[in-house]
Amino acid sequence: MVTASIERFRWWHVEEVLPLERQLFPAEPWTAHHFWSELGQTSTRHYVVALSEGSVVGYAGLCDYPDEAFVQTMAVGPAQQGRGLGAALLANLLEEAVRRGQTRTLLEVRADNEVAQRLYTRNGFRKTGVRRGYYPGGVDAWVMERATRV
Ligand SMILES: CC(C)(COP(=O)(O)OP(=O)(O)OC[C@H]1O[C@@H](n2cnc3c(N)ncnc32)[C@H](O)[C@@H]1OP(=O)(O)O)[C@@H](O)C(=O)NCCC(=O)NCCS
Repeated sequence: MVTASIERFRWWHVEEVLPLERQLFPAEPWTAHHFWSELGQTSTRHYVVALSEGSVVGYAGLCDYPDEAFVQTMAVGPAQQGRGLGAALLANLLEEAVRRGQTRTLLEVRADNEVAQRLYTRNGFRKTGVRRGYYPGGVDAWVMERATRV
């Protein structure tokens, strides 16, 4: 595991996250406004960053819906991938889902994103559905779900 700390995603991290967002999600990057909106909904959102030597190297967010938790985003900078940070960020979100009393956690992932699918499968998620042509370019979304410990 790379040395990094998982901390609350604060407003001052947004500017540093934007270049990563554009690099990792070039087809549909979130804007600063979108991140601000997410961070502002403090009662239903839980966002964290992975910090290494003071720099943001990853980020992730969870939405606490009435009947389920939902992974809103999950990202690790290219230079830091494959070292367990994605797993650490996901573990943090799942702990929060448990803390909030959720019984299940869902997410959507591109059908062609095998790295992310493996991360989710390793962590107990199973494919439960497909949204046809959900992403730009007509790429399908897999809906994945896992029971959240309560
Ligand atoms: C998906 C994503 C978040 C995963 O982050 P990550 O930090 O690379 O994830 P991990 O390091 O925990 O796991 C990835 C791989 O590294 C391996 N790994 C983890 N720790 C490791 C270590 N210490 N040494 C060697 N390999 C390791 C894992 O086994 C896994 O391998 P696998 O894919 O062959 O099974 C990252 O690839 C990413 O940001 N991708 C672009 C954005 C994206 O697709 N986000 C998901 C949207 S749904």
